[in-house]
Amino acid sequence: MKALITAGGHGTRLRPITHTQNKHLIPIANKLMLQFALEFAQDAGIIDVGIVINSNDESIKKAFGDGTDLGLKLTYIPQDAPLGLAHVVKISESFIGDDNFIFYLGDNILVGGIKKFIGDFEKNASNCHLVLSKVPDPNRFGVAEVVDDRIVSIEEKPDNPKSDLAVTGIYLYDKNIFEAVNNIETSPRGELEISDAHQYLLDKGYDVSYSEITGWWKDTGKPSDLLEANRLVLDNIKSDSKGIVDKNSTVSGRVQIGANSRVINSNIRGPAIIGDNTTIEESYVGPYSAIGKGCTISGSEVEYSIIMDGCQINQVKRRIESSLLGNDVEILRSKTRPATHKFMLGDQSRIEIE
Ligand code: TTP
Repeated sequence: MKALITAGGHGTRLRPITHTQNKHLIPIANKLMLQFALEFAQDAGIIDVGIVINSNDESIKKAFGDGTDLGLKLTYIPQDAPLGLAHVVKISESFIGDDNFIFYLGDNILVGGIKKFIGDFEKNASNCHLVLSKVPDPNRFGVAEVVDDRIVSIEEKPDNPKSDLAVTGIYLYDKNIFEAVNNIETSPRGELEISDAHQYLLDKGYDVSYSEITGWWKDTGKPSDLLEANRLVLDNIKSDSKGIVDKNSTVSGRVQIGANSRVINSNIRGPAIIGDNTTIEESYVGPYSAIGKGCTISGSEVEYSIIMDGCQINQVKRRIESSLLGNDVEILRSKTRPATHKFMLGDQSRIEIE
């Protein structure tokens, strides 16, 4: 069993963060998003992992190298342009060879890993095994119609869904998937669609089984999804403090504080995580906050937010909430008069003020 994990794509919904950073390197509870997928593969006993990247992007290679640290053998597969998920599978044929494989979209976060789904695929001995999740809004997803424990049709974003079972970003295949991806046509939006490949398998009489995710699963396409994924992961952390908390500070609930970090005259309410070399002073850090390395938060309040490395938040009057700050962002109280809002924002930045 091999694994094929996506780390390319456009990332348009996460701009401006994705103008300067691959979305799969955005931290969720201070861990790179892609690392969740890699650890799931490792936990399932998989060693050979292919990662599909945009061909001009070196950042993923830089972050994970050859995979030795994680006990994996990583192969990077460049994709010239994001031409669709079935295209990702198509260009990976020589890496996969005749092996069965799990295809995992690197921006999906779930609880419990992938071991169970691999076991279900093997038990079913089917050609394709899809992981489904009940959702309240199936018309936003590929939707599976199920009869007698087998998938009989899949419709992409249907107006009248035949079930509430969405196809998630976890798929298991035998080598017949390559017949499918090599025979489907490009869709009107210019992509080779994975749903079309699945429908091809169904039309040709291949056996398509499924598992249902009963726990939490999130496809982190939008900023609000990242905050929700961050909440989910923080809900499961354990307390661990390597930093210094002074006697005028309170730390309650499950909180992780990194090495050389300092909490001074502040109130930290978990679940929350604070990276190494960060200072929290005269401040409040509330539940579901992930603060990166080398940040300074002073005279300010932060809650339910992802604050990446090197940020400075200084004397901000209103609580910062539901926010996503990239690396080295500064939000400071103006020291000069007139006391106006002064912005220095890149393309597609977004701020909401009172
Ligand atoms: P999507 O979330 O469907 O697309 P995207 O990442 O391009 O984002 P947006 O819609 O905001 O522009 O992609 C799902 C996953 O697949 C994600 O990990 C990116 C990856 N991907 C590729 O690697 N190559 C591709 O051709 C496509 C379409 C996606």
